[in-house]
Amino acid sequence: MFDYFPVSAKEFDGPVLVTGAGGCIGSWVLALLERAGVQVHAFDLQIDKRRPGLLMDTDALNRVVWHAGDIADTQAVKSVVAQSGAKAIIHLAALQVPFCRADPVAGALVNVVGTVNVFEAAKASGVKRLTYASSVAAYGALDNGGAMSTLYGAYKYCNEQTAKVYSEENGIHSVGIRPGVVYGVGRDQGMTSKTTVAILAAAASKPYTIPFSGDVSWLFAGEVASAFIRSVAQERTGAPVFDLNGKLASVQEGVDHIKALVPDASIAITGEPLAFPMYHSDDPLKAYIGDYGQMPLKAGIEETLKKFQQLLKDQKIDASQFQ
Ligand SMILES: NC(=O)c1ccc[n+]([C@@H]2O[C@H](COP(=O)([O-])OP(=O)(O)OC[C@H]3O[C@@H](n4cnc5c(N)ncnc54)[C@H](O)[C@@H]3O)[C@@H](O)[C@H]2O)c1
Repeated sequence: MFDYFPVSAKEFDGPVLVTGAGGCIGSWVLALLERAGVQVHAFDLQIDKRRPGLLMDTDALNRVVWHAGDIADTQAVKSVVAQSGAKAIIHLAALQVPFCRADPVAGALVNVVGTVNVFEAAKASGVKRLTYASSVAAYGALDNGGAMSTLYGAYKYCNEQTAKVYSEENGIHSVGIRPGVVYGVGRDQGMTSKTTVAILAAAASKPYTIPFSGDVSWLFAGEVASAFIRSVAQERTGAPVFDLNGKLASVQEGVDHIKALVPDASIAITGEPLAFPMYHSDDPLKAYIGDYGQMPLKAGIEETLKKFQQLLKDQKIDASQFQ
């Protein structure tokens, strides 16, 4: 599962700090960096190793240096960046669409102020390698962007503009990535997590209905994690932002792959297509950062299914928790 993604410790000149490290993409970033022998510092609201623990054994988890803190707390972020001696930051901490909708102020504090805090901390500590997660939802902030408008998307677009100003005014350069729909082990929250829930349901022999149809990006979590890692594998200039969508395919095509592996699987599809543009090419990102590894759709679904079957057998995951 990890071998698809080339990560080399030689490209790093010190520790890497990952914010939102207990989340889905963060867990994959930790696993890939740790596996390659890079010293990793993890920052999240709480020290919750549940998701990273689906991908890493106890020894690997314990080699990661964990920091609990709020990304919206300017001083806390500055202290962690300074104390960790981080030479690179992968900034993933965020509240997703439903949380921003339910509490717009909290969403702005985490997604907007939190990102400003990361740039301020990078400036204060002289960190020269920085990448952050925008989103395909940022297209909703653009006229004719082809996406539904959400506060989450507005905040993500604000992050991209923030990055541009920090590059121009302060020489704090960065790479922004706009992932589409991510699937894989660890993806258990957010409106687009349902393709993953369907794979888990098949692994657990439970019926499931995916609440959206049409084309989606089947972006394997390890692939997006690897792209974030490659973005900080060297110093860069400017503040470019790139789309990252993995394999564009219909929800039905993914379900067909699941059913080929589990013929008895009872997976239905309903609802409208997701209102996000997921047809944008990954080629500009590939050209800019080089090969970060790609996961074919069939193999990605098979690897995820097998891993879920193993995790269920080992009672490390409870299928009833995911809806
Ligand atoms: N998963 C996707 O499909 C997708 C698509 C586009 C963009 N993104 C972006 O990629 C990043 C990672 O996504 P993910 O799927 O891993 O999300 P996730 O929700 O699984 O993880 C986010 C992490 O951020 C942490 N966090 C939330 N508030 C915090 C705070 N105040 N202080 C510190 N940490 C806090 C959470 O505890 C969580 O561990 C996010 O910025 C997300 O917006 C994800």
